[in-house]
Amino acid sequence: MPIDIVIGAQWGDEGKGRIVDLLSANTAMVARFNGGDNAGHTVTIGTDTYKLHLIPSGIIHPHTQAFLGAGMVINPESLLKEMDMLRSAGVTVDLGRLHISHTAHLITPGLKALDAAQEAALKEGRIGTTGRGIGPAYTAKASRSGLRMEDMLDPWLLQDKLDAHIAQVNERLTALGAVELDADAVCTDFDRFAAELMPYITDTAAMISDGLEAGQRLLAEGAQGTLLDIDCGTYPFVTSSTCTAAGVFSGLGIGLQPVDQVIGIVKAFQTRVGGGPFPTELSGELADRLRGTGENPWDEFGTTTGRPRRVGWLDGVLLRYAVRANGLNALALTKLDILSGLPTLRLCTAYRLDGQVYARPPFGISRLADCKPVYEDLPGWQEDVQNIRKFRDLPEAARVYLRRIEEIGGAPIRWVSVGPEREQVIETGH
Ligand code: GDP
Ligand code: IMO
Ligand code: MG
Repeated sequence: MPIDIVIGAQWGDEGKGRIVDLLSANTAMVARFNGGDNAGHTVTIGTDTYKLHLIPSGIIHPHTQAFLGAGMVINPESLLKEMDMLRSAGVTVDLGRLHISHTAHLITPGLKALDAAQEAALKEGRIGTTGRGIGPAYTAKASRSGLRMEDMLDPWLLQDKLDAHIAQVNERLTALGAVELDADAVCTDFDRFAAELMPYITDTAAMISDGLEAGQRLLAEGAQGTLLDIDCGTYPFVTSSTCTAAGVFSGLGIGLQPVDQVIGIVKAFQTRVGGGPFPTELSGELADRLRGTGENPWDEFGTTTGRPRRVGWLDGVLLRYAVRANGLNALALTKLDILSGLPTLRLCTAYRLDGQVYARPPFGISRLADCKPVYEDLPGWQEDVQNIRKFRDLPEAARVYLRRIEEIGGAPIRWVSVGPEREQVIETGH
């Protein structure tokens, strides 16, 4: 079973990028299947930090083939910038390594402008999107009016489609009281993007299927997280794609087949950026302590937007839900080092709502906002764990905390990270 899947088990930013980097050492093909440059995946190797938004994090290993799958929505300008960023960092990004699905959808400046205008119109009820045009791009896809990567293969057709697209977007921007776009400027830019990206656009579904048939391993890199999934997440405070494991097959255009590991990435505490319910959310000094000041690169400020993330205790109810919704059979727990020095740690094991105790998220996930967490308190540890590489060398209290998360979540923790750097990972043997 040569397929592994990495999924965010919370609201994104769990540390998927660094775990994908770790697992890519033994993988031939790495592929993104959902989302776009709303994602920000960080990989730290020595003193180098890579922030990837569209290209799978596995590309940093020189032996991998990287795929941008059909389920993605791709801003070509961002993609070209990312290719340049990687090249200047010494990563080879050439035709032999990077493959873009011909059926992935395009994000245009029009769709980005619509994202901003729609958010502004929502006022207090806004979702807090990343402003990358993600929602409008998936809306265009579902309404069968979107532009696809394959449209870039025919410059004349592309210009016609862009003209019609910008005219349509401008009508909506005007209705929302926003500034219209200049179609000619967009067309000129896309002419250049098309010329540069054309050689990389291909039938990735066929390439991945052939690779699997030839016995190559595939690592599917999820973006966002289970609780941001369009169907399984805290709707409407979600993104617009399938972020859960089931999205791998449609998002890469490959047939259903057995999977080896479905790995959920879990941060040692809970974070969320943007609006929506968050039962274990903290405020005040403790929240500031978990978030960090912003001085460290790993402090809780968005990789894509720089916004401070909301923080709270680990929510075991939502973790159990993520295990079920994805069929997670392994977990990787990140940022354990951040908890060092706290006297007591809390784990949410259930919710109280209208006088009842619930072990699962309530029916009608919008009621999540009214849930009060039921906590279990565990002793913290004072030791710095950043240089520990063996599970047995972790402080007893840390091991107890991890075991309890496994029990509550219902899946084994196979990796624990104790710092952002490639080497700062413990294999638990679980
Ligand atoms: P992703 O979107 O899931 O890939 O996660 P992000 O890259 O957006 O956010 C995770 C942040 O935590 C990044 O800044 C990582 O470098 C950092 N990080 C990941 N694992 C650890 C860890 O074990 N300890 C610390 N201190 N930082 C970590
Ligand atoms: P990675 O892959 C954290 C959030 C936004 C907003 C909601 C909808 O780095 O984990 P969108 O722009 O997608 O329409 O925004 O989803 N969001 C993320 N939060 N990590 C991400 O990606 C996210 N991608 C989107 O903040 O609440
Ligand atoms: Mg991120």
